[in-house]
Amino acid sequence: MSEKKPFYVLVASIGQLCGNGQLRETISERRNRQGNDVPFWYLSPELIKRFSVSLEEVEAVVAEDQTAINWLRLRFGGQVSIMEFDLDQLKSEAMDLPPSSPFKGYKCFSLNQFTMNSNQSHKITINFKQENKKITMNVPDGSSILQHFEENGEELPFSCRNGCCTTCAVKIVSGTIDQSQGIGLSKQMQSKGYGLLCIALANGCAELETQEEDEVYELQFGKYLGSIKNKAGNPFDI
Ligand code: FES
Repeated sequence: MSEKKPFYVLVASIGQLCGNGQLRETISERRNRQGNDVPFWYLSPELIKRFSVSLEEVEAVVAEDQTAINWLRLRFGGQVSIMEFDLDQLKSEAMDLPPSSPFKGYKCFSLNQFTMNSNQSHKITINFKQENKKITMNVPDGSSILQHFEENGEELPFSCRNGCCTTCAVKIVSGTIDQSQGIGLSKQMQSKGYGLLCIALANGCAELETQEEDEVYELQFGKYLGSIKNKAGNPFDI
C-alpha cells in the first residue's frame, strides 16, 4: 500500500457509465494504446464499497487526468469530484473492465427525481423506423417513456440515458411529452418537434418517430462543427 493521493472521479448511478459497453471499449482501447499502467480505472458498486467510498448505488471512473474525466462526463453525464485513493490499491484491485452488457433493472440518474402524478396513463405510440415497426403502450402519467417500454420488453435506441447524446432522439408526430429534465436538445430543436426519449416523461397521448442519431446531431450542431478546424486523434490526447 502507498499513501493516498487525489484523483479526478466521475460518479453516476449504476449502469449510467457502463450501460451500453462504450466505457469498456474506451478503457480497453486506452490500455491497448498506452499500456496497463495508464491511470484510468472503473469502480463497480462493489469496488466502491471496498475502497471505502461512502456512496451507495453508484459506479465511478477514477483518473489522474481531468480532461479525460470531463470528456467522459460530456458523454455519459454524472458528477465530477476529487477523491483520495491509494494508487497501489487501484493498480492491484481495479483493473477489471466495466461489464460489456447493460445492467438489468438499470435506473437513470434523473429517474430518481421523477414523480408519479396520478393513476392516469397515456397511449404512446413509437414508430420505430430502424426496426420497421410501430409499438403502442399505455405509459403511466409522469413515467419515463424509454424505461416503460424497456420494462415491457421493447428496447428502443439509447446511449447515455442522460439527455446528452441524441441517440434516442424522436420526432413528435402528434401529442406532447414532458422534456423538462433534458439538456441535450436546444429549445429551437424542441420547438421544431424533436424530443429525447431517455428523459421524456408521459404527460399526454403522443405519437413519436425514432430518428437517425446523426440526423438530429447534424441539425443541432452541424453548423457549429462545420466551422471548427478538426484536429485528428483521440480526444484524450488533444
Ligand atoms: S440516450 Fe443520449 S440523449 Fe437520450
